[in-house]
Amino acid sequence: MAGHGGPGPYLWSRDGFLGANAVALRENYLPDYLSVEGPHAPHRVNLFDLPTADSMDAEALPTPVMTSREGVELAVSRRRAPTPYTVRNAEADELHFIQSGRARIRTDFGDIEAGPLDFVFLPRAVSYRVEPLDSELAVLILSSPLPLYFDVPAPFGMIHFGRSVRRAAITAGLAAEKPHRLWIKSFDGITRFEMAHDPLPAVKQVEGQSPVWALNLKEIHPLAYITGPGGPPGQFLSTADTSVMCYTLSARPGSRPPVHHNADYDELILYCEGPGAWGGVTEPGTLTWVPKAVTHHGPEENVPEGYQAWLLEVRPTMRLTKEALEYAAHIETGFYGLKT
Ligand SMILES: [Fe+2]
Repeated sequence: MAGHGGPGPYLWSRDGFLGANAVALRENYLPDYLSVEGPHAPHRVNLFDLPTADSMDAEALPTPVMTSREGVELAVSRRRAPTPYTVRNAEADELHFIQSGRARIRTDFGDIEAGPLDFVFLPRAVSYRVEPLDSELAVLILSSPLPLYFDVPAPFGMIHFGRSVRRAAITAGLAAEKPHRLWIKSFDGITRFEMAHDPLPAVKQVEGQSPVWALNLKEIHPLAYITGPGGPPGQFLSTADTSVMCYTLSARPGSRPPVHHNADYDELILYCEGPGAWGGVTEPGTLTWVPKAVTHHGPEENVPEGYQAWLLEVRPTMRLTKEALEYAAHIETGFYGLKT
């Protein structure tokens, strides 16, 4: 397993995969640690282990699992009944990742259906309701105060935008409640409006394109290096200031990452599906978190059986919520197995 003992290269990199870097040959294998105490420690948690309020109470909102001072947040939803009110996020773009199950998401710009391994993008100020289509729905929700944009290294190849990106579409005849409850999310909580009309029913789209889209993780092709040892993954979505960046980290050719410090980013990786294992991670729905300045190596991505995973890099320093910490465990940072 991890290369205990012996010298090895160590990489320090700035601005994630985009900035300056330096490599030194170290005398020892640096990821090894004997014990850890305190908040800035590598953990993993499985989304399916976390109790979520909305699985038992249709009125509840998703359960936050990671937060930051800057407002970047991760939450988990396992909704079992349709949202009985309309939600609108006043301060963040939301990226909903469907780990399992299916849902219809009704929005200001029409409906979209999503299933396993779909990302659904709900930008700031777009109103929505979620209708589960089965009893398996489990969703990881990223909230980013700064807008997220497609940011691929080339205009085609990684994502076939015309074929793979589905847009919400307006269908007439949506049943509406009057009066209607509208909940607006902001940094300090929920503001509840009673509206004269349901905001969602629409007649047709007459300008622009729907800002609500869905895209399956399997249709985001990993960036790979055919000759040589390999290199970093390529992002598909990011903020203009690169404070939040999303990558596919599914199986691809190349050698194992170097032992490194990612100076400016916390790294969060969601392992979504096998059949191959990703190092010490084998259970779909496992979220690993390595905070910045914690030395890590990382498993092989060149797994012939294949697996699906994605990486979230965030400049803000993240913290597990008190509720999530109860279900999280420390990991070693060689193969991201449980710390023994
Ligand atoms: Fe890393």
